[in-house]
Parts: sequence; structure tokens; C-alpha cells
Amino acid sequence: MIGRLNHVAIAVPDLDRAAALYRDLLGAKVSAPVPEPRHGVTVVFVELPNTKIELLHPLGDDSPIAGFLAKNAAGGIHHVCYEVPDIRAARDRLRAQGARVLGDGEPKIGAHGKPVLFLHPKDFLGTLIELEQA
Ligand code: CO
Repeated sequence: MIGRLNHVAIAVPDLDRAAALYRDLLGAKVSAPVPEPRHGVTVVFVELPNTKIELLHPLGDDSPIAGFLAKNAAGGIHHVCYEVPDIRAARDRLRAQGARVLGDGEPKIGAHGKPVLFLHPKDFLGTLIELEQA
């Protein structure tokens, strides 16, 4: 059911330092910071040959990653995103097997303009999974 790894999202306490680390030390192609107020994050996109890394920093008072950074002060992997061809079909299949979909289960338009859902980390080896309809 799942296809390509779309991205790995890393929550970071200092976006400029994180971008510099990937650009200067690791030698990756790194975007300018992109504010995404609807998602409560500022994102730096790291382009790799086979996938992306998204460096996430809280934006605004109600950021979904603020709590994560409070518990992980140095930063850490926040979620992985897998592509699926049909997000509602994926949701229905997962739910039928007892997996929990976060929120009301209706796909939201994600940071890339495509429908996304998140799956409960307790059902997936402690990993928050984002599904994106590719
Ligand atoms: Co994501």
C-alpha cells in the first residue's frame, strides 16, 4: 500500500543552525526558510537525490511541534511521510485493521498542497506517520 518515502521531518530548536548543518557540514541542497502559518511551522527543505528532509521549527503560539521540542530540546525526528495512491482507501484499510488515524480522519491539505493524514505513533512502533496522496 505505501509507496515512496516522501520526506522525513526533523523538529529543530534553531532553524538557521539546522539549515547550516545540512548545507555546510553535510553538503546538501537547502532551501530558504518557508513560513507555513496554517501548519504552525517554518520549514527548510533539504533536497536529497531520493527524498527530502524537512527541518521544522515552531511558528506561532499553537504550533503542533512545540510540545515535541519541549520534550526533545535538541530536536529529533518528528515524523516520516509515505506516499499512498488513494488516501481515503488507505485510511479505510488501516481503520478496518484497528489502526488509529489522528483527528477526525478527514484528509487535510498538507504543506505540499496534497491530502494528508497522520497515524497514531502507538500503533506504528513509536513513529508518527504521515500519509500523503501522491
Ligand atoms: Co510532513
